[in-house]
Amino acid sequence: MRFSLSGVLTGALLGIAGVTAIPQQASPAAAASSSSSVSSSASSPSQASSSSSSNSSSSSQVCNNSPVLCDRHYNNITHMGAHDSAFLRDASTGNSIAGNQFFNATLALDAGLRLLQAQVHSENGTLRLCHTSCGLLDAGPLESWLALINDWVVGHPSDVVTILLVNSDDADVSQFAAAYQQAGLSKFGYVPPSATAWPSLAAMIANKTRVVSFVTNIKASSSAPYLLPEFDYVFETPFTVLSLDGFNCTVDRPSDAGTAANAFSKGFMGLVNHFKDEEITTGINIPDTDNIALVNSADTSATGNLGQHIQQCTDQWNHRPTFVLVDFWDKGSTVKAADDSNGVSQASGRTNATADSASDSSADGTNQTREFGTGALIAFLAATLLMI
Ligand SMILES: *[C@@H]1O[C@H](CO)[C@@H](O)[C@H](O)[C@H]1NC(C)=O
Ligand SMILES: *[C@@H]1O[C@H](CO)[C@@H](O)[C@H](O)[C@H]1NC(C)=O
Ligand SMILES: *[C@@H]1O[C@H](CO)[C@@H](O)[C@H](O)[C@H]1NC(C)=O
Ligand SMILES: *[C@@H]1O[C@H](CO)[C@@H](O)[C@H](O)[C@H]1NC(C)=O
Ligand SMILES: *[C@@H]1O[C@H](CO)[C@@H](O)[C@H](O)[C@H]1NC(C)=O
Ligand SMILES: *[C@@H]1O[C@H](CO)[C@@H](O)[C@H](O)[C@H]1NC(C)=O
Ligand SMILES: *[C@@H]1O[C@H](CO)[C@@H](O)[C@H](O)[C@H]1NC(C)=O
Ligand SMILES: *[C@@H]1O[C@H](CO)[C@@H](O)[C@H](O)[C@H]1NC(C)=O
Repeated sequence: MRFSLSGVLTGALLGIAGVTAIPQQASPAAAASSSSSVSSSASSPSQASSSSSSNSSSSSQVCNNSPVLCDRHYNNITHMGAHDSAFLRDASTGNSIAGNQFFNATLALDAGLRLLQAQVHSENGTLRLCHTSCGLLDAGPLESWLALINDWVVGHPSDVVTILLVNSDDADVSQFAAAYQQAGLSKFGYVPPSATAWPSLAAMIANKTRVVSFVTNIKASSSAPYLLPEFDYVFETPFTVLSLDGFNCTVDRPSDAGTAANAFSKGFMGLVNHFKDEEITTGINIPDTDNIALVNSADTSATGNLGQHIQQCTDQWNHRPTFVLVDFWDKGSTVKAADDSNGVSQASGRTNATADSASDSSADGTNQTREFGTGALIAFLAATLLMI
């Protein structure tokens, strides 16, 4: 076998940087199966809602931090999400530049995010949260992380949480089900009656089915019906955006979804990928922290603002985005961007555990990470060149 220099370098650097040049894996097969199950009928959301929760319009009830959201259908709410939420740039990973977040998923939920995304790899027969490869950034067994999410869900009975797992190695749905069971999270699993009928948050809360789980590259299974093939329900905008003017609202996946209007007509929900990478050398991208305040800002004035992107998609789609994914969610005003989208003005029950460090950039690793990260990459590049 022959290896090109650039191929070896790129592969090695991808391994080091854990970069997003590698697409989140979505098999065409999984995507292709989507239209079949996105069909018609079943009970209407309002019926489900009225039959299961007599209290749903109680003005004292708060759902996902706001009374405004109790009667709102799940798919008509913007759920702010932490992209690669298990992969941290903090002391636990030596400030790895493969990390996309400074704070973990529990703190994200505390702060008001309600969507957690992560990559899952099959390593020696068990599912682990790894970024690109387990040799690069291994955040441990899936069930351990899910158990911590379960702890949070148990402690927050008026909240609906969404989990989105990228099944990078095409593991069988039964392996995910085992992890969910072990973590205790399966009992909270919401099972939609059809791909198009989403109930109110109050109805989901009343039924104690408060965890919505999407997984890529799985087949729906009657033994774990709460594990939903992502691209039967959700379409996504492009990712690996390298410039501030690169964010748009075009349907990127699934490939057969057609236009956004077509996808909405079939009951799909829209996911806005809003994280910016920077290219540090040809083909090697890492999450951009230099522009993070602008990129994660709820403002709508500057090109690249989170608020502007959400507004743009809402206008183009004639639907508010159901899901948004950001890197380094504690930077900027990500939760405010969701509140603005949802028309929520007075949220309650949030703890912003990162506020104390917000005025001191050295405390959260932004500063030291860039130097460490870039330095390590350059050293690696030099070493690789010398070896060859
Ligand atoms: C129903 O709402 C009342 C206040 O109107 C509240 O005291 C009660 O706990 C609620 N019950 C449930 C099951 O949410
Ligand atoms: C979505 O929520 C808005 C309130 O923000 C409401 O006016 C609209 O009717 C809802 N749409 C649907 C389809 O329920
Ligand atoms: C996040 O960190 C807190 C504090 O260290 C810890 O209690 C919690 O279990 C962590 N959650 C996750 C998902 O790692
Ligand atoms: C998987 O097995 C390989 C080979 O035995 C080993 O090097 C690696 O550390 C194992 N991975 C984990 C996560 O245990
Ligand atoms: C709540 O549970 C009942 C009984 O299992 C079911 O008929 C109804 O559809 C559920 N509603 C929601 C919103 O899940
Ligand atoms: C949106 O961005 C993608 C990826 O950069 C690009 O391929 C596509 O053409 C863009 N769509 C529009 C309408 O500009
Ligand atoms: C947390 O608080 C800081 C300081 O007040 C603020 O800048 C930041 O936007 C907040 N983060 C979230 C996610 O609300
Ligand atoms: C990095 O830290 C230095 C002092 O240690 C500070 O002057 C500078 O503003 C910081 N840079 C950023 C981007 O926070």
